[in-house]
Amino acid sequence: MVADQKQAGSIPLRVIVAVQASDNGIGYGGQLPWPRIADDLAYFKRVTTTNRVSNLVEDTEGEAAVIMGRKTWLSLPLKYRPLPGRLNIVLSRQIKGGDAGEALFSGAYLATDLEEARDWAARQGARVAYVIGGAGVFQEALSHPACDRVYLTRIQRLAPDQSTFSM
Ligand SMILES: NC(=O)c1ccc[n+]([C@@H]2O[C@H](COP(=O)([O-])OP(=O)(O)OC[C@H]3O[C@@H](n4cnc5c(N)ncnc54)[C@H](OP(=O)(O)O)[C@@H]3O)[C@@H](O)[C@H]2O)c1
Repeated sequence: MVADQKQAGSIPLRVIVAVQASDNGIGYGGQLPWPRIADDLAYFKRVTTTNRVSNLVEDTEGEAAVIMGRKTWLSLPLKYRPLPGRLNIVLSRQIKGGDAGEALFSGAYLATDLEEARDWAARQGARVAYVIGGAGVFQEALSHPACDRVYLTRIQRLAPDQSTFSM
């Protein structure tokens, strides 16, 4: 089936989120609350690029889409924007532009809401769209009828500036 024959909006939404085990925090100062964790980043890349958590073959093989809020996009290091091997979609209510004309969003499709993002991903041929943050986008995706899976990682680490007391 060619991409533009796919039924728009028919693909599942999957939430992939890492939370701080102590308080469910997901962000701090525009970044992740914990220092870089290579294994978790590799896991994120594997799931969102190959649609697999294991060697099991999924029915969602093929290029996936990642949907994120504007601040999550801006939190990505420049060299990882857009996230390679995935259709990158950025949500913004105030910045409109489809295939982003603005240099800041170069390589991403700008959508004004989750439904537009999902429709666009389906029309591009994506079999699945991963919702990768931030907080409000996670909330919206979790209550969306097309959300069929949540990949939750609990991080047992301290925030970079967090101190502990021991006796
Ligand atoms: N732990 C994790 O798994 C994880 C994952 C992702 C991000 N993060 C962290 O979370 C923080 C960023 O997340 P955040 O919650 O502050 O912001 P965010 O969700 O990334 O971005 C918020 C912005 O996205 C746009 N937006 C959100 N929902 C929308 C919708 N339904 N339709 C249209 N536009 C929408 C709005 O942009 P406009 O203002 O332009 O309208 C809004 O101001 C960072 O610290 C980041 O490191 C953590």
